[in-house]
Amino acid sequence: MDIEKMVRKEMRGLVRPVHGGLGWQHPGVEDFSSNLNPYGPPDGLMESFAEALPHLVHYPDDRSTVFREAICSRFHVEDDYVTIGAGSAEIIRLFPDVFLSPGDRVVMPSPTFSEYSFACQVRGARIDAVPLPDDLRVDIDEMMRRSVGAKLVYLCNPNNPTGGIVPRKRVLELVEECDRQGTLVFLDETLLELVEGSKEITCLAEASSHDNLFIIRSLTKCFAIPGLRIGYAVGSQSIIEHMERARLSWNLGRLEQLVGAKLLNDHYGHISKAARVMAAEKVRVAQAVSATGLVQAGVPDAFFFFERSKWSGKTTQERILRHKVLVRDCASFGPRFHDFIRFAVKTPERNDRLIAAFRAEAER
Ligand SMILES: Cc1ncc(COP(=O)(O)O)c(C=O)c1O
Repeated sequence: MDIEKMVRKEMRGLVRPVHGGLGWQHPGVEDFSSNLNPYGPPDGLMESFAEALPHLVHYPDDRSTVFREAICSRFHVEDDYVTIGAGSAEIIRLFPDVFLSPGDRVVMPSPTFSEYSFACQVRGARIDAVPLPDDLRVDIDEMMRRSVGAKLVYLCNPNNPTGGIVPRKRVLELVEECDRQGTLVFLDETLLELVEGSKEITCLAEASSHDNLFIIRSLTKCFAIPGLRIGYAVGSQSIIEHMERARLSWNLGRLEQLVGAKLLNDHYGHISKAARVMAAEKVRVAQAVSATGLVQAGVPDAFFFFERSKWSGKTTQERILRHKVLVRDCASFGPRFHDFIRFAVKTPERNDRLIAAFRAEAER
């Protein structure tokens, strides 16, 4: 049988997205390629693991009630404005399944998180990529212009990989213009809570008053638990209703549900502590790495750097790795970024290792 002929045409030639965070392949290496809470997960999660064990012989609660309740109480949202995902990655994948038909036009900045375009391509949508201007900040005016006649607009705030933040006022201008145009807005705030002052930027409270708004969040980055898959979204009631109907049954295991609830109920301060430290450290790291001449880093809006480097991204990554420090080569974001690297800010001691690696390579 010719399987190629059986495959939907949208699936042919699909290329899987490339991601950083491969530090586990490099034992003993300090991983700056992923953007996680540098303090790691909070202590005290073992209790949830033990509590989950006897439940593993049953299917988990399909609605993830304990986790859902924790989200509602932590963020002051009503239950019917919330959906749950096995990581926000699952929600990213589901959204086009629910809303897109082949040929629909979808607007997104370029570069941005690669899973959006991948999920849209699986549904046969047309990607209308809006290149970031030279300052690498999302051009909201251009996004608004392109939203006319589009089905959906994506915005990642802060944007991954570039780290720029769009102020809430501007995000809402985009949401409102899209509403007038009959366009949905998919807002990714999975990296936002680790930014100091995120409460002034988040649009969570706006989902109940904007029919076209859908916001994804995740516990992955802020609690440094990528090995557990725990995400959620807050959106308008009518969007959520359809997402909930289509959601994969039992998408969160019992362990994820209990850990998710525990983290939001008892450990939320773990995030603000990291945000505070990183806000101070990013200024110091910017100065120190720029002084080496390998990059010219300004202080980023978020807690990670996206910088042109002296050599290609691959070469810089290899050279820095000699010192057991991993940065991300950004070539996967396209030829324009072949000499860019991305690296996160971490705790002062860990940042010292990064700075030392840059210095050592600059002096070689
Ligand atoms: C901007 C952004 N959104 C969403 C995700 C998906 O994360 P998760 O599925 O762990 O929530 C990532 C992961 O790297 C990301 O960088």
